[in-house]
Amino acid sequence: MPDTNLHISHDTDSSQPNISRIILAITGGIAAYKSAYLARLLIKSGYDVRVIMTQGAMEFITPLTLQALTGNLVHSELLDEQAEAGMGHIELAKWADFIVIAPATANTLARLASGMADDLLTTVCLATTAPILIAPAMNQQMWANKAVQANVLRLQDYGYHLIEPDSGEQACGDVGAGRLPEPEALLAHIQYHIKRYSMPQTLAGKHVVITAGATLEAIDPVRYLSNHSTGKMGFALARACRDAGATVTLIAGHVHLPTPFAVNRINVTSAENMLEVAQKVTHHTENPVDIFIATAAVADYRTREAAPQKIKKTQSAMTLELVKNPDILATISQQHPEIFMVGFAAETQDVEKYAHGKLVAKNLDMIACNDVSRSDIGFASDNNAMTVFFADKYQQQPVHLSKASKNEIAQQLVVLISQKK
Ligand code: C5P
Repeated sequence: MPDTNLHISHDTDSSQPNISRIILAITGGIAAYKSAYLARLLIKSGYDVRVIMTQGAMEFITPLTLQALTGNLVHSELLDEQAEAGMGHIELAKWADFIVIAPATANTLARLASGMADDLLTTVCLATTAPILIAPAMNQQMWANKAVQANVLRLQDYGYHLIEPDSGEQACGDVGAGRLPEPEALLAHIQYHIKRYSMPQTLAGKHVVITAGATLEAIDPVRYLSNHSTGKMGFALARACRDAGATVTLIAGHVHLPTPFAVNRINVTSAENMLEVAQKVTHHTENPVDIFIATAAVADYRTREAAPQKIKKTQSAMTLELVKNPDILATISQQHPEIFMVGFAAETQDVEKYAHGKLVAKNLDMIACNDVSRSDIGFASDNNAMTVFFADKYQQQPVHLSKASKNEIAQQLVVLISQKK
């Protein structure tokens, strides 16, 4: 699930729109009952919600339910004198910052795709400049129908955004794609799209790869060597890069964090496994990588060989032979000089000296370094403070990011990366 904070901050660009007014449009499908709960979730999340219902929708749920949930009169008539006197269709179209149509029936998709304006919903959709998100829901055979698919493609071409229907058992007894996602999932999609409209898309079109979390180095089938990294910084960066418009691949070691919405996560275990995946992703020519950010706390050493069976405690002492792990960041940097490389350094002493050394040794564009001897920042903490150094070619003085949440630090790092990339 994405972040649940709903009032979008404008720290980076005050010209970005503030999206708080949502039209929830409900059309006539059996899934309309889910929209009542979605209305409640939107209200709870702090949005100002107005509901439009088609005639079909009112066969499934009553306007009174939606009125009670949103605290606003439900709009359903195009040519209703009273309604037009309150908020007319053009005013409604201008009022909306964002429109979500859930569920969207095949009939509504067809009417929208052909530009019709034969009811309030279709008229508002033609008259608005707000982004429109459609969540189609229908019988699986209808969803697979060529005419429906052609309408969806045409709508996407017109700039409509799509929430793909879920697959599974349907109200009619069929099994297949066409179910309306659950209200929580719909909310996640809505928030994701809203964020995209609210944040400057400084990384649009870029593919960012991020390593995060601790690696596990097996001792035997049940024991391993690892460290205290939680992966929070890497996951925060994955969300921040996604919100700035990037396609994000997150290579995650041992972490207990949910996968950020719309981020492609690949789980790995050991350092060797992380390197293998990082190489596979960066060598892939169809989706070339623009930026590589290494936040993972990679174990410096691994056991020379993991015991094939559980080691028994028969001896009073034992020695583990360790060998050095590959440096993932340095390897990718060497193999792909075209990729913008970002490293992290956690130090307990001479922080800046060591960080600068790594910048040069690993041939990085940028390194963000923090002082892990401070207990209030770094590792398991939700906060961080960093100094960022740049490769000499950028002729840029170090930038100090003062103590803030890892989410905020991540957003600031994205600004710095976008400026250089
Ligand atoms: O050398 P050091 O471990 O301090 O370097 C830290 C930076 O290098 C981090 O960005 C970390 O993710 C990356 N690193 C790596 N592979 C290693 C060790 C560190 O990618 N084996």
